[in-house]
Amino acid sequence: MEPPENGCADEYLFDPVILKQIDFSKHKATYKPMISPANPGESLLLRPLCLGDFDRGFLQLLSQLTKVGDISRELFKERFTSMKSCPHTYYVTVLEDTRINQVIGTATLFLEQKFIHTAATRARIEDVVVSDDYRGKQLGKLLLDVLTLLSKKLGSYKVTLDCKDKMIPFYNTFGFTKEEGNNFLQQRFKD
Ligand SMILES: CC(C)(COP(=O)(O)OP(=O)(O)OC[C@H]1O[C@@H](n2cnc3c(N)ncnc32)[C@H](O)[C@@H]1OP(=O)(O)O)[C@@H](O)C(=O)NCCC(=O)NCCS
Repeated sequence: MEPPENGCADEYLFDPVILKQIDFSKHKATYKPMISPANPGESLLLRPLCLGDFDRGFLQLLSQLTKVGDISRELFKERFTSMKSCPHTYYVTVLEDTRINQVIGTATLFLEQKFIHTAATRARIEDVVVSDDYRGKQLGKLLLDVLTLLSKKLGSYKVTLDCKDKMIPFYNTFGFTKEEGNNFLQQRFKD
């Protein structure tokens, strides 16, 4: 695994080469102005989550999406290590503004291994958030396009996500649709 590009003595959650290998050529035309995984914007870097992102505002960013709770450095490290010990499963991807060493966007791709469909893999996109000051710059779109392409590249038979009603138009634009007769059900045990 290559050393982190942010210059810190740090550790990636997954191999950054995986992001570099994504073929983005067919998507380029849909970005105006043009941005890409290799060039997401001035001073921005698209990369896997790092252990050091605890100090780069990763959890504060997630709190713009939902309740995060009190996560100590130890708990963050424990969860990071636990995710990393499950190969080919957790692809927490971030956008860092390297000028200020802050994580300003994130989305997670989670791969669930199954027995059905000939031992297939199903992908889920979770926890998509772009920081307030950086919205409207196609960064949410970039994160979704990258993780959707990655889910396909990693051999998933489908990729799904849950969202609030008001976000359906946003996800529709990326090809996510509600399937007639298929419903998302849940029992919630905690807020
Ligand atoms: C939703 C979110 C990730 C979008 O990020 P962003 O970087 O501002 O989005 P982009 O600039 O990439 O927008 C891409 C397209 O989606 C549209 N869009 C953005 N937010 C939208 C929303 N809330 N509803 C509908 N469309 C939306 C944009 O207008 C743009 O359309 P265009 O290409 O026709 O101009 C961001 O607003 C956010 O973090 N919100 C809070 C957390 C959240 O709700 N996350 C989703 C949880 S399901």
